[in-house]
Amino acid sequence: MKNQQSDVSSRSQPDVKAKEDGPVTSSAPLLSVEHVKISYRLKNTLVQAVDDATFTVMPEEKVMLIGPSGCGKSTILKAVAGFIEPVSGRISFAGSTNITPGPDRAVVFQEFDQLFPWRTVLDNVVYPLRVTGRSKPEAMAQATTFIEMVGLGPARTRFPHQLSGGMKQRVAIARALALGPPMLLMDEPFGSLDAITRTRLQGDLNRLAERAKVALLFVTHSIDEALLLGHRVVVLQGAPSTVAAVVDVRDINGPDDPHYRSIRRSLEDLLGAPGEEEPDGGN
Ligand SMILES: Nc1ncnc2c1ncn2[C@@H]1O[C@H](COP(=O)(O)OP(=O)(O)OP(=O)(O)O)[C@@H](O)[C@H]1O
Ligand SMILES: [Mg+2]
Repeated sequence: MKNQQSDVSSRSQPDVKAKEDGPVTSSAPLLSVEHVKISYRLKNTLVQAVDDATFTVMPEEKVMLIGPSGCGKSTILKAVAGFIEPVSGRISFAGSTNITPGPDRAVVFQEFDQLFPWRTVLDNVVYPLRVTGRSKPEAMAQATTFIEMVGLGPARTRFPHQLSGGMKQRVAIARALALGPPMLLMDEPFGSLDAITRTRLQGDLNRLAERAKVALLFVTHSIDEALLLGHRVVVLQGAPSTVAAVVDVRDINGPDDPHYRSIRRSLEDLLGAPGEEEPDGGN
């Protein structure tokens, strides 16, 4: 284990280091997850998914949740989204512990079928804006801006079945960002994409998130994706999981940076991951 290194904190403290283009670090956390335990009821038994999760996300910060399959990453995201309730512990978002689903934590999933199949690209983005109270002209203008921002202006009148997987994920991202949320919750949004599309969307997401000044809580099981996108990486271990470490990765420049390789090795050790993974974030 290398979680004794100075760049790897051994529990989930809000150990936000300064970075020129990083988020504001002196304010209160936007999201605070404290000693959260989560179980599912399955017939007459309880399936414990998360044993003890503690971490924070600051405004505009990009925090990656990484861990082996089945360790409870999606479960934590669902609890932050307000879809399920922890058995114990506390989740606080923007100062409130009343965590119910809301547009202030827009969710983007891995599945390509999260769009309404009977609505065009434009209508898919307009719809939640109308539901959350925008006037029609306001919703149309906002939707158009974000569709352009993800590069889908020419496809705005198409239906989901007329789009590639990458295009569908762009629509889902545009739809989420158009709501103007302080935080996006993303559950392996690029996991089903080919490596080239994934790399392109990772770069786009970085730019879009900075432009929209949105915080990200992003689930991945790719170490490289976590290093490319994240300011900090929350490493989960075990099933039910606990937080093994919170690693600050904001000053890492890219796969050629020697620091990248050493942090990557630390994460591999923490995850018990075998050897090499594609440096493009492949999994
Ligand atoms: N609706 C459910 N009912 C019962 N058990 C569930 C339910 N959803 C998840 N689980 C269980 O909770 C545990 C954590 O699941 P979760 O989906 O959060 O894992 P994950 O880390 O997201 O995995 P993956 O990387 O494969 O997506 C698993 O044991 C899973 O079987
Ligand atoms: Mg999952």
